[in-house]
Amino acid sequence: TESNPIRATLFPGDGIGPEIAESVKQVFSAADVPIEWEEHYVGKEIDPRTQSFLTWESLESVRRNKVGLKGPMATPIGKGHRSLNLTLRKELNLYANVRPCYSLPGYKTRYDDVDLVTIRENTEGEYSGLEHQVVRGVVESLKIITRQASLRVAEYAFHYATAHGRERVSAIHKANIMQKTDGLFLKCCREVAEKFPEIRYEEVVIDNCCMMLVKNPALFDVLVMPNLYGDIISDLCAGLIGGLGLTPSCNIGEGGIALAEAVHGSAPDIAGKNMANPTALLLSAVTMLRHLELHDKADRIQEAILKTIAEGKYRTGDLGGTSTTTEFTKAICDKL
Ligand code: NAI
Ligand code: MG
Repeated sequence: TESNPIRATLFPGDGIGPEIAESVKQVFSAADVPIEWEEHYVGKEIDPRTQSFLTWESLESVRRNKVGLKGPMATPIGKGHRSLNLTLRKELNLYANVRPCYSLPGYKTRYDDVDLVTIRENTEGEYSGLEHQVVRGVVESLKIITRQASLRVAEYAFHYATAHGRERVSAIHKANIMQKTDGLFLKCCREVAEKFPEIRYEEVVIDNCCMMLVKNPALFDVLVMPNLYGDIISDLCAGLIGGLGLTPSCNIGEGGIALAEAVHGSAPDIAGKNMANPTALLLSAVTMLRHLELHDKADRIQEAILKTIAEGKYRTGDLGGTSTTTEFTKAICDKL
């Protein structure tokens, strides 16, 4: 209610993060969303309590509020410290990353019938952060797949499909080559599939999946997969509907935590130029509202965003328009 606002954590993040986070704040305020943000920035030095640049207070804030929105966080290549995103996903046990992707009405791409959801295992696989040099010139990276994390994400995928009226779950894998790791992942998906006889279940090899997605994305409904594949496939899917400026996601964690974030990164090439498309983060914020059961607000905001894009007068550069982030945001706020 208005008198008792819901507290949510906000990480504006790096690069374009603060610009698109500002856009969310403005849109939420135009729609009178009863949310009070607890804003947290990434620290400038390692916090000994988290062993990373993430502050202890920021993690506590997410744990306490159980909902939050995060902007992209840059990971410098080869600097030797753990990615902030990996740390966040590990520390908060954000085990599933849900990435809906659908054709936007009025925005033409090669397809007009994309409507799929990628569910990415979010805590292990090649992203376990276990890499080392064996001898000079030879490095090793460990791909960890556990029964526990595979069952957990598969169960999430089937529950999601059931709750959202979806008909099919496809497990994406390369178990013909990665026999032990992807083999175990598939076995877990099969076990869970048996408990959901009303949902069709299929297995698709990742390379074939890429071909099919590009040729006929309407073949897919819900896709569940190990971490690295999910990272790659979801960018591919973003490309099907118009790019990374459009696709939202939500990280689901133990204990009912939901931390929404865009699929894209900090976009250093356009940062600070008022050029970024805030749609992906705005739609992520909408998934956060749905998690809080604020469906009225979520519907209104989603409608205002989609209408603004469909009308075409205000679009950012990535969609072929000339609007700045602020102009596009204002157009959405005016509708609200
Ligand atoms: P990126 O997603 O930041 O950018 C890829 C391309 O998409 C760029 O040309 C960029 O301008 C464009 N783009 C992305 N978001 C956009 C938006 N909202 N509006 C318009 N255009 C947009 O990927 P990149 O360049 O590989 O990564 C940059 C940094 O972000 C790296 O440090 C990376 O580690 C980090 N990253 C962080 C993520 C996160 O926090 N969840 C996810 C992906 C990358
Ligand atoms: Mg990615």
